[in-house]
Amino acid sequence: MLLAPFGTLLAAAVTVYATAVPAMRGTRMKQDVDTGFEWDPEAFKIAAVREPPVGFVYHDLWDTTTWYNYDLNATIAQSVKIIGRAAAEGVKFIAFPEIYFPGYPAFRTANGPEDFAQYVSQTMEPGDAQWQTLMKAFADAKMYGVVGWAQRANNSLFMTQSLVGPMADGSAGTIWKHEKFRPSGEERTLFSDGLLNTIRAQKLPFGVVSMLNCWEHVYPESRFISGAQPANIHVASFPIGSSVANATVNVNPYTGWHADAKAYAETAAGSPILMLPTYGASGIFSGSTTLNESTNTLTTGSQPYVTTVLNTTTFSDTSYSVNAYNSWGAVENIMQNLPSDMPQRKGPFLQRVIFTIDQLTKAYIWTPGLTCTPTSKWPCLKVWPQHQESDFTASST
Ligand SMILES: *[C@@H]1O[C@H](CO)[C@@H](O)[C@H](O)[C@H]1NC(C)=O
Ligand SMILES: *[C@@H]1O[C@H](CO)[C@@H](O)[C@H](O)[C@H]1NC(C)=O
Ligand SMILES: *[C@@H]1O[C@H](CO)[C@@H](O)[C@H](O)[C@H]1NC(C)=O
Ligand SMILES: *[C@@H]1O[C@H](CO)[C@@H](O)[C@H](O)[C@H]1NC(C)=O
Ligand SMILES: *[C@@H]1O[C@H](CO)[C@@H](O)[C@H](O)[C@H]1NC(C)=O
Repeated sequence: MLLAPFGTLLAAAVTVYATAVPAMRGTRMKQDVDTGFEWDPEAFKIAAVREPPVGFVYHDLWDTTTWYNYDLNATIAQSVKIIGRAAAEGVKFIAFPEIYFPGYPAFRTANGPEDFAQYVSQTMEPGDAQWQTLMKAFADAKMYGVVGWAQRANNSLFMTQSLVGPMADGSAGTIWKHEKFRPSGEERTLFSDGLLNTIRAQKLPFGVVSMLNCWEHVYPESRFISGAQPANIHVASFPIGSSVANATVNVNPYTGWHADAKAYAETAAGSPILMLPTYGASGIFSGSTTLNESTNTLTTGSQPYVTTVLNTTTFSDTSYSVNAYNSWGAVENIMQNLPSDMPQRKGPFLQRVIFTIDQLTKAYIWTPGLTCTPTSKWPCLKVWPQHQESDFTASST
């Protein structure tokens, strides 16, 4: 009986509130003097992309069978639509999964390394026309974001994360760029190593943003260096978040990714909001609270991302604390307390490995951490220290 009048009251209240919103918004909106970027600090909408690259075929992480022809242009076109839609829905910051452009490859397929040549043909160099198309979408959307892409540079491939956003001249461009410092597992047969000193949180008008790729949340060096820099939002770009993964081979990666990223965020300085974009499933978290999450496998979609609205005025102070889990004092403790009988030597696994596109399209790149059994399609090429052609092992011999 009470429901009807209550419903009427509520409807009236909502109407009053709705008309009041523009005025409230007006007083809350901020504008960045350098770029003209406008945002509401008390209602800042962010999105974690989950729609996979165009044509993406879900596969286990180290799958050796599933290949499809990667399509950079189609994925750029799809992302332009995603960015435009997000902008129309008020999103101001969007995060894409790991190497979304052109997608996460399969490894050691039956065709042999020639498949990698198709992949290379679908990668971007900095400043390519496709990159400019993507930046135009960001400029039109007046939005910040993190872009995961396979970068072709200096005749090698890198797993790159670019923090992009509005520039003073009205365009959008790169604010910071980080190449995954040590690609994981079979990724090392395609991608060269980046540098740890590109792990740098960036101060943006609405807060401080940090970013890492996938297993960088697990490697001690990268998680420490990133976690030592206080951030308000951390983008954890991972690849396949599908729940279709084969449990025998690789227990539902999304569950694993979430555990890795959450463990990182819980000890990272600044207690950042965690954005976890993957292909299929994505989530946004604050500590142990899930702000939004979709764990369903998405192939194409009605809901290309998950969003949440943040009150950035509640963001924590991002100055360094000497009491942080990841602090200079903690490094001191580690150095002083390692067992004295531990070998004090840098093994090859920690050396930077760089190899050329020519090499990766001819052979199985065999770096520390991998083993290679040569086949007729996949001769082994050991590339550490760099480019030792004499280590080439032809399958026929
Ligand atoms: C945002 O947080 C501030 C500080 O706690 C609070 O005063 C304000 O009401 C919040 N804004 C909204 C829209 O909830
Ligand atoms: C992809 O797009 C670029 C420019 O954005 C264009 O030059 C190229 O021809 C396109 N490739 C295909 C296969 O359509
Ligand atoms: C490519 O080489 C240039 C010049 O050495 C260097 O500045 C740049 O960082 C390199 N790019 C990558 C992705 O390593
Ligand atoms: C999972 O992978 C294992 C090992 O490759 C395979 O034997 C099994 O058939 C796969 N299961 C499914 C459901 O695909
Ligand atoms: C999660 O994100 C979707 C897509 O933007 C949105 O429709 C939904 O309202 C969000 N849910 C929550 C709880 O914010």
